[in-house]
Amino acid sequence: MIGIIGGTGNTGSCVVSSLKSKNADFVCLARDPSAAKEKLGEDVSIVKADINDAASIETGLSGCTKLFLLSGHNPSMAQQEISVIETAESVGVKHIVKLSGGDAIVQENTPAMIGRAHWEIEQALKSSNMDWTILRPAFFMQNLLNTAPMVLGQAKIMMPIIADVKIAMIDVRDTGDVAASVLTEDGHSKKTYFLGGYDYTLNDFSDKISDELGNQIPFIEIPIENAVAAMKERGMPDWLIDHQVTLMKLVSSGVAAGANANIENISGHKARSLANFVKDHINIFKG
Ligand SMILES: NC(=O)c1ccc[n+]([C@@H]2O[C@H](COP(=O)([O-])OP(=O)(O)OC[C@H]3O[C@@H](n4cnc5c(N)ncnc54)[C@H](OP(=O)(O)O)[C@@H]3O)[C@@H](O)[C@H]2O)c1
Repeated sequence: MIGIIGGTGNTGSCVVSSLKSKNADFVCLARDPSAAKEKLGEDVSIVKADINDAASIETGLSGCTKLFLLSGHNPSMAQQEISVIETAESVGVKHIVKLSGGDAIVQENTPAMIGRAHWEIEQALKSSNMDWTILRPAFFMQNLLNTAPMVLGQAKIMMPIIADVKIAMIDVRDTGDVAASVLTEDGHSKKTYFLGGYDYTLNDFSDKISDELGNQIPFIEIPIENAVAAMKERGMPDWLIDHQVTLMKLVSSGVAAGANANIENISGHKARSLANFVKDHINIFKG
């Protein structure tokens, strides 16, 4: 049996649908089982559990030999996931597949706090006696859906990132397929996979949106201060604003490029392209 933590989120819900298509035996550990059923389907087995409550994780993982672990951004992420790793080992889990950050930010001394947290969790996992696989996805194409209000309201896309800098991008549906393969096949233990997808620029994104809408939607680089003001207005906490600023500066420096074939090699199909992603989500940009 496979346990899934984070199954209701962007990536985790894709892991769930890919495991469903493989008829795998799995259970989701979720804070709100009725919301999880509504999102994932009545046929998905759900047990109530919170990563801040080790006893609930212990109960939820009972009978599981594998675990997909993702908990989402927050300042306590390292502490939470390391606690889950310890609990999982104590209840007999044999293999953890951890969703980490991209190669550009997961380092011991990176300025990106979430990158440092992922690095710490990776070390804890590698020091355990369990098998492990670390998935390090590149920039999620799904992040770009946040630009829909600008496209709808102002017919432009504004971000504080250099327009023609290359960024490795992936569709989270591909991470779901990769994770499902790793969870159901042999040969992935003690491997760290950067899921690089393809390198694109934000100008490429505005071109694809413009093509689909039949209307020119330019990409405009804005000063970082303007982005900070917009994030404050949206009520984002200070730690997250600081993290986003660090990420945007790193991405603009070019370190986030790095297309590779890991998605195809592991899932057996080509990585989804940005053109496909935009086509599949274009209704969000039409209002
Ligand atoms: N965005 C990017 O470009 C990018 C690139 C590479 C890596 N990443 C990494 O990807 C991860 C985020 O992935 P995502 O966007 O798929 O996540 P997400 O959509 O934010 O989902 C987070 C999941 O964690 C669950 N969760 C949060 N707190 C929990 C708790 N206390 N107990 C149990 N479950 C809890 C949430 O459940 P609820 O439904 O209960 O909230 C949800 O299922 C981060 O670690 C990030 O560093 C992001």
